[in-house]
Amino acid sequence: AVPWTERQQRMLQAMGLRVWSPAAEPAEDVPPSAAVAEPEPPVAHAPQVELATPPPATARRPPERATALAAAPPAAAEPVAAMPDDERSRHIATLAWPELRGAVAACRACALCETRRQTVFGVGHTQAHWLIVGEAPGEQEDRQGEPFVGAAGQLLDAMLRALGLSRADDEMLPPERRVYIANTLKCRPPNNRNPTPEEMQLCEPFLRRQIELLQPRMVLAMGRFAIQSLLRSNEPVGRLRGRVHRFQGVPLVVTYHPAYLLRSLTEKARAWDDLCLAAQAADEAFAP
Ligand code: URA
Repeated sequence: AVPWTERQQRMLQAMGLRVWSPAAEPAEDVPPSAAVAEPEPPVAHAPQVELATPPPATARRPPERATALAAAPPAAAEPVAAMPDDERSRHIATLAWPELRGAVAACRACALCETRRQTVFGVGHTQAHWLIVGEAPGEQEDRQGEPFVGAAGQLLDAMLRALGLSRADDEMLPPERRVYIANTLKCRPPNNRNPTPEEMQLCEPFLRRQIELLQPRMVLAMGRFAIQSLLRSNEPVGRLRGRVHRFQGVPLVVTYHPAYLLRSLTEKARAWDDLCLAAQAADEAFAP
């Protein structure tokens, strides 16, 4: 018997995974991308799925649930830079949506303004219950001015569809199905390099204000830079996933960055687990 609900099965399918069945044909995986790697220590956690493409024998471990993560020893993590508290940040914290968008577009606080084509503010309905936080714009985002429109964005959209969620700024969608997507950095780092701590710090007031205005009820932090910014933790994703954190009282689930997922079916299976956890936490958070 298949232990998943219909929604979970849809999600598996959307992410290039399916429930193991002896008669099933191998499925196509998302093509590999040149995305930046998100190095992770191996974590003793395997979801209860078989990979659509047969995995190496070492990947076929018996299922262990997310509780195993809690037992992992703490990593020797560097402290994350403090939240900025200067005049500029305090001013940003007063802005309404249109002014905030304008302030981002005009920002020249760091050198990324010299190389960007345009800033990438965020996308989605401003009354969305869900907030997804990514890292920084890549080439396509820099060209189009919208977060997650490249290959990683296509995977993200498939994941959202599987959950019945959408980034569309659509009045017909109920708020619990709407997603707002924002990045930690609003400008593309040249050659998609990692954000520097200084860039993160200077850009952080924008994301903070977006969150204050949005007042999400569920947050999904994708990748280590989103996690650093929201949880002020340098722990690897693998040590923080599998449980519900809180950001200013709002449930927050962490997962791998979609660009990283594009390269790994095994990690996609883990991300599927994360999304199920987030969906479950959202159901609880949105309950009347
Ligand atoms: N990766 C991100 O984190 N954000 C984007 O907008 C695109 C790729």
